[in-house]
Amino acid sequence: MGKVVVLDHPLIKHKLTFIRDKNTGSKDFRELVKEVSMLMAYEVTRDLPLEEIEIETPICKTKSQVISGKKVGLVPILRAGLGMVDGMLNLIPAAKVGHIGLYRDPETFKPVEYYCKLPQDIEERDLIVLDPMLATGGSAVAAIQFLKDRGAKNIKLMNLIAAPEGIEAVTAAHPDVDIYVANVDEKLNEHAYIIPGLGDAGDRLFGTK
Ligand code: PRP
Ligand code: URA
Repeated sequence: MGKVVVLDHPLIKHKLTFIRDKNTGSKDFRELVKEVSMLMAYEVTRDLPLEEIEIETPICKTKSQVISGKKVGLVPILRAGLGMVDGMLNLIPAAKVGHIGLYRDPETFKPVEYYCKLPQDIEERDLIVLDPMLATGGSAVAAIQFLKDRGAKNIKLMNLIAAPEGIEAVTAAHPDVDIYVANVDEKLNEHAYIIPGLGDAGDRLFGTK
């Protein structure tokens, strides 16, 4: 069974409060989502393997550790996942970025695919699927399945806010996938929006309605 890691660092909690606040405009919302993603990247990459190399300091020769050629792939779910890419790339600049376009049908809440462009070598990469919201879990379950159908073996999911229903759906469909979240909220409302949540993440990021 995949693990669920809640990253409840004070800086993340603080920034999440202002992300949730309906009076936070798109400019600040984007900046805060980027900052929280960067903070979360620190923990999501904790298990990257290291190797020793020899270097020379101004004083002497020494052995020191670097990340050992592990290939990382970031996969934002469009649109809202885009808001998390820059923060992640700040810390993992060599990562390649694939995109999966999904939107939730407003009546059925089921995900509809409209775009998919991934790095050619995804089967060799550690993939991190990015989406600020995990509500019913339908979008994340479908995105992870697309990646597996194309050969991906090593996948993590990173969300800012998750509903218990979404976590249950992902762990049931993909027990091999670890989930990293900044907070697990209370539940979904009758429109499958997260309570208290932050509203519609894509609309708040891009100023649409
Ligand atoms: C939102 C969000 C997730 C999805 C979560 O996207 O960014 O992708 O809903 O809901 P689920 O867990 O019930 O599938 P949305 O469909 O609003 O598209 P957008 O990012 O283009 O606004
Ligand atoms: N998608 C969002 O953007 N917000 C929610 O609360 C649920 C799905």
